[in-house]
Amino acid sequence: MATDTVSVLFVCLGNICRSPLAEGIFLSLAESRGLGDRFHVDSAGTGSWHTGEPPDTRSISVAAAHGVRLVGVARQVTRRDFDDFDVIVAMDRSNRRSLERLRGYGARAGKADVVMMRAYEPRARDPDVPDPYYGGSHGFERVFRILERSCEGLLDDLSAGLRRDRPRP
Ligand code: 4NP
Repeated sequence: MATDTVSVLFVCLGNICRSPLAEGIFLSLAESRGLGDRFHVDSAGTGSWHTGEPPDTRSISVAAAHGVRLVGVARQVTRRDFDDFDVIVAMDRSNRRSLERLRGYGARAGKADVVMMRAYEPRARDPDVPDPYYGGSHGFERVFRILERSCEGLLDDLSAGLRRDRPRP
């Protein structure tokens, strides 16, 4: 069914490296297609260690080098997110398992579709977005490129479900 807006939550482990990057890249791509107002985006971590912190400086740097601004501070994903978001995007299989454990059952399971980020990357060689936290800056550049390709695919997919005849102000 066509909708006016879609809400998307990007989830990784710490919410300081991969998911804030994915959030920033997705929004930047949506804005470049004139669809910035059609998506509500956020990010969260399955862990709570970095709650309240800004994104990792290496994520901020690689994003800035590509003209993408990162906003927001880290928070932990909650069960309510399954009600509040249409789509929850896991960065790796471990994140997806954590999300499945957190999610309730039956009527309490919420509406969100849980999907894998790299399922939207053409010819992805691995199902997981690698965790760059313990590596050098080259790892962040590699993650940026993976997320850029994946977010293009996700945006193509979600844009197809947007209502086209929405009246413009
Ligand atoms: P992220 O990376 O899940 O992409 O934000 C990590 C950030 C922090 C930690 C692990 C991964 N940590 O162990 O603190």
